[in-house]
Amino acid sequence: MSLQDELYKETILDHYHCPRNFGSINSASLKLEGLNPLCGDELTLYLKLNNDIIEDIKVEAKGCSISTASSSMMTEAVKGLSLDKAINIASEFKQMMLNKNEITVFDETNDDLNALAGVKKYPVRIKCALLAWNTLLQCIEGNNTENDNLKNSKE
Ligand code: FES
Repeated sequence: MSLQDELYKETILDHYHCPRNFGSINSASLKLEGLNPLCGDELTLYLKLNNDIIEDIKVEAKGCSISTASSSMMTEAVKGLSLDKAINIASEFKQMMLNKNEITVFDETNDDLNALAGVKKYPVRIKCALLAWNTLLQCIEGNNTENDNLKNSKE
């Protein structure tokens, strides 16, 4: 195993053993449960918004090392971002994981995410890495749909 692979493995284990932003938010603006139907692992995502800024984010997760580490990294990557920027980074992450030929490299702000690129070698684990990100996108996009429906019902 190369030094780079060793460092990435340590990064994943660090997030697994000490997940960042773990827990719930009582007055969450948005909340959504995500499920990996293949294994039954689940998580609950909480977002507290200030206008369109993700002021706080928490995840309660019951999952494997990859899904827990990925949830933790996701919360660090999007906390403080606008919803649009969070969608962009989630889309880039999904592209990195789903496109075999994609060589996405996140900059040093989100360097931890690069550690998950190695999971592509194990196709059954890709769903584990994507669970938190898919839940985030569904949560935000569901919210946009609700807002659009509200707007449409007022028109
Ligand atoms: Fe269930 Fe990874 S084995 S999310």
